[in-house]
Amino acid sequence: MFASIVPRYDTVNSLMTLGLDRRWRRQAIAMADPLGAVALDIATGTGELAFEALRQGVRIVIGADFCVEMLQAANGKAAHSAPGSVPLVAADAMRLPFADGSFDCVVNGFMLRNVDNLPDTFAELCRVLRIGGRLVCLDLTPPRGPLKRFLGMYIARVVPLLGVLVAGNYGAYRYLFDSLSIHPDADHVAAMIREAGFAEVSYQRTGWGTVALHRAIK
Ligand SMILES: C[S@@+](CC[C@H](N)C(=O)[O-])C[C@H]1O[C@@H](n2cnc3c(N)ncnc32)[C@H](O)[C@@H]1O
Repeated sequence: MFASIVPRYDTVNSLMTLGLDRRWRRQAIAMADPLGAVALDIATGTGELAFEALRQGVRIVIGADFCVEMLQAANGKAAHSAPGSVPLVAADAMRLPFADGSFDCVVNGFMLRNVDNLPDTFAELCRVLRIGGRLVCLDLTPPRGPLKRFLGMYIARVVPLLGVLVAGNYGAYRYLFDSLSIHPDADHVAAMIREAGFAEVSYQRTGWGTVALHRAIK
């Protein structure tokens, strides 16, 4: 499914978030204290979070994803703007090919809804972080509050329509709604992160409550 949305992935992202996805990525990277860090962007997709990490001064950022077509798109962008700047690795978030304690920070954007087993994934991300390392997760979260109905309808109806019109793909963008409807709320995600061994777990909502940014320390 991810391979099928690669060509228009960035465009649909910008359209459906009204361009706010860039701001959320900036926020996510800033929360990871990136300056001089060795970082992993897991589920990097087309590499946007990794490129933002570079802009904010990481020393090294590795982008990893299990979808090779996504990595090829990220590689094409890196070759264009900054050759060799982001080493890319094909890997599953639940079984990473990195030694214990390899990274100062691990970030991910719009990954949590997609992994088979969230507790195991958090445990694996914890394993590859050094003690004191930072985890930052950016993803959609079930909307709540007064705009809940409107936002739910936007995600259920407008986003798949954009998917059809811009990317010619209804299913992949309807999946966004389906995955969100079974995704645990932000408190529950925070509890899972804590259970995986992290401390100082906190989160903030943005995007009218549709997006959560979780931060934790190993
Ligand atoms: C919605 S895209 C997000 C891409 C990028 N992080 C961003 O901010 O736009 C989700 C990405 O997660 C990847 N992904 C999903 N499950 C994964 C897993 N278990 N291991 C590695 N990558 C995974 C997909 O291949 C896809 O590239």
